[in-house]
Amino acid sequence: MAEKKIGIIMNGVTGRMGTNQHLVRSILAIIEQGGVSYKGDRLVPDPILTGRNEDKLRQLAEEYGVEKYSTDLDSVIADDYYQVFFDASGTPYRAAFLEKAIAAGKHIYCEKPIAESYEESLRVAKLAEEAGVKNGAVQDKLWLPGIRKFLALKEQGFFGKILSVRGEFGYWVFTGHIDDQPAQRPSWNYRSEDGGGMIVDMHCHWRYVIDNLFGNVNSVFCHKATHIPERVDENGKPYPCTADDSAYAMFKTDEDIICQFNSSWNVRVRRDDLLTMQVDGTHGSAIVGLRKCWTQGAASTPKPVWNPDIDSPIDYYDGWSECPDTTTYDNAFKVQWEEFLKHLVDDDHAFPWTLRDAAKGVQLAELSLVSHDKGAWVDVPKD
Ligand SMILES: NC(=O)c1ccc[n+]([C@@H]2O[C@H](COP(=O)([O-])OP(=O)(O)OC[C@H]3O[C@@H](n4cnc5c(N)ncnc54)[C@H](O)[C@@H]3O)[C@@H](O)[C@H]2O)c1
Repeated sequence: MAEKKIGIIMNGVTGRMGTNQHLVRSILAIIEQGGVSYKGDRLVPDPILTGRNEDKLRQLAEEYGVEKYSTDLDSVIADDYYQVFFDASGTPYRAAFLEKAIAAGKHIYCEKPIAESYEESLRVAKLAEEAGVKNGAVQDKLWLPGIRKFLALKEQGFFGKILSVRGEFGYWVFTGHIDDQPAQRPSWNYRSEDGGGMIVDMHCHWRYVIDNLFGNVNSVFCHKATHIPERVDENGKPYPCTADDSAYAMFKTDEDIICQFNSSWNVRVRRDDLLTMQVDGTHGSAIVGLRKCWTQGAASTPKPVWNPDIDSPIDYYDGWSECPDTTTYDNAFKVQWEEFLKHLVDDDHAFPWTLRDAAKGVQLAELSLVSHDKGAWVDVPKD
């Protein structure tokens, strides 16, 4: 097999997502396995890390044995060896980075949200299209084992007509006020001026999840809240929370399915996973978690009778079957990277998770905020 090296600029990867999901569990894991075998070739990523802080870059490169890093992004972008520009830096900076890389003819792959506004997202998507570069954005949830299992059930007609979906997402993010409970997420997430906010963060995900699983979103009703007004940052300094930390939303789809999603950083978990979606259909229901999926078909549905005067005679967790693992599920980010690398070398290998598609996530986040302000349902225009 011929080895094809693919030079990839990895920008802003000293952060949480960049390091863990993209560098270590995707790119380095692909190199470790000897590349991606594709049509007689082995596609082997060759990364260079870029960012602002040389010490952090050196430390990261040394820790994981990455040979190349640089703080001089312009020179790296000017180097034709690198075909791909990947960005996992902060949301407010992404569009400018993408624009610069597109102008240099790089193929683009990046984290979500792809820009701070829908208008800006469409502008960047259009720039990439006009430049004729391949492009895509992370839609990792589509490769979670729980969601793969759901899609198989749906394809087999398990649900009959799907009626509704109730998504519960979130967990308790420590505020930092208690000494031994430092916050486990970066503080910018709670400041809107730095690109933070639950809606901006999670409604991008809910858009492609709902579009792909339950039909295209055609309207939204949303209420946001900032339940915790002050948190403590990475340096132990209290700061005011200017972004929403919770969102209570309903989405309707063109398959006539009502999807209700609660997203919150202020909830303690007593459910099967940090994200669960209960999907109820005429013939069966499922609880879809990150890795697992449980089903209850019509024939095994118990007959509850309302009587709060006695303990329930039914254990409602009984009567659900766990879908078995029927294949090996690789890291979701890595699977999407592998798809992108194949698309890079082969126009016929489709990659529908484009910047234009990702712009729809930003659109939904924006319209969710409009819905909150108006206190009303808002239509989501078709592209
Ligand atoms: N797909 C997902 O599930 C998922 C999950 C979390 C975050 N994200 C997205 O990933 C991005 C990063 O989030 P994170 O949680 O890793 O945050 P983080 O704060 O841990 O990392 C941000 C990184 O960007 C770098 N950075 C900031 N400004 C920069 C600049 N001007 N130039 C170069 N680098 C710069 C920081 O130094 C840091 O390395 C965000 O856009 C976020 O929305 C996606």
